[in-house]
Amino acid sequence: MDFNKINLYIDNLYEQNAELTKKEFINNIKLKDFIPIVDDDVIRFLKLVVQATKPRRILEIGTSIGYSTIYMAKIVKEYGDKIITIECDEKIAAQAKQNFINAGVADFIELKIGDAKEILPNIKDEFDLIFQNADKKLYSLLFNDCLKILKTGGLLVAEDTLFPVLDLDAKWHDLIKTIEQFNQMVVNCPNLESTLLPIGKGVIIAVKK
Ligand SMILES: C[S@@+](CC[C@H](N)C(=O)[O-])C[C@H]1O[C@@H](n2cnc3c(N)ncnc32)[C@H](O)[C@@H]1O
Repeated sequence: MDFNKINLYIDNLYEQNAELTKKEFINNIKLKDFIPIVDDDVIRFLKLVVQATKPRRILEIGTSIGYSTIYMAKIVKEYGDKIITIECDEKIAAQAKQNFINAGVADFIELKIGDAKEILPNIKDEFDLIFQNADKKLYSLLFNDCLKILKTGGLLVAEDTLFPVLDLDAKWHDLIKTIEQFNQMVVNCPNLESTLLPIGKGVIIAVKK
């Protein structure tokens, strides 16, 4: 299968109905220096998951400029709960905050500014959906903390999990091993049922049994 051709077809198909594509979202903001955000196919996937499962509590690890947060929040806003999202870079977090206000979803998002490694072990709440999208080295490091605060029946979603087979720029090569380790943890965890989807840079989705 020619995945480039397939992805192009799917993106074109949905572009006509997209509220704001990734390209438009980036063009609309002042800050230009930030870590890449998810692709439009991952946004469609997250929207579908949130719409279908109506998670009361969502935790996102890795906010960046808030693209994925905003799309999840627009659905959460309809049934009235909150997303907690964590970002360690203050400048990027400030842009995310502004984007939340501009998108009219600020009341549905709690932005925690700091290192997820320090914040996560102190979170006492449980979550219906955890979206892991921060530094790839954190995925396996925070795996057990995530499992602890994920409700039974809750979903763990992680982006960039196809790094081991993607044609990555040399600067990302040291992240391959850590993602491979995370994937093995998910696949071999007796408490999780999962699959890895070839969207974005590879999205793993797992439900806690
Ligand atoms: C891939 S981006 C998130 C993209 C975002 N989810 C989106 O698609 O709109 C990852 C973000 O995680 C942040 N990050 C990296 N390490 C972190 C850590 N230890 N704690 C909190 N945030 C972290 C980075 O600053 C970066 O903005």
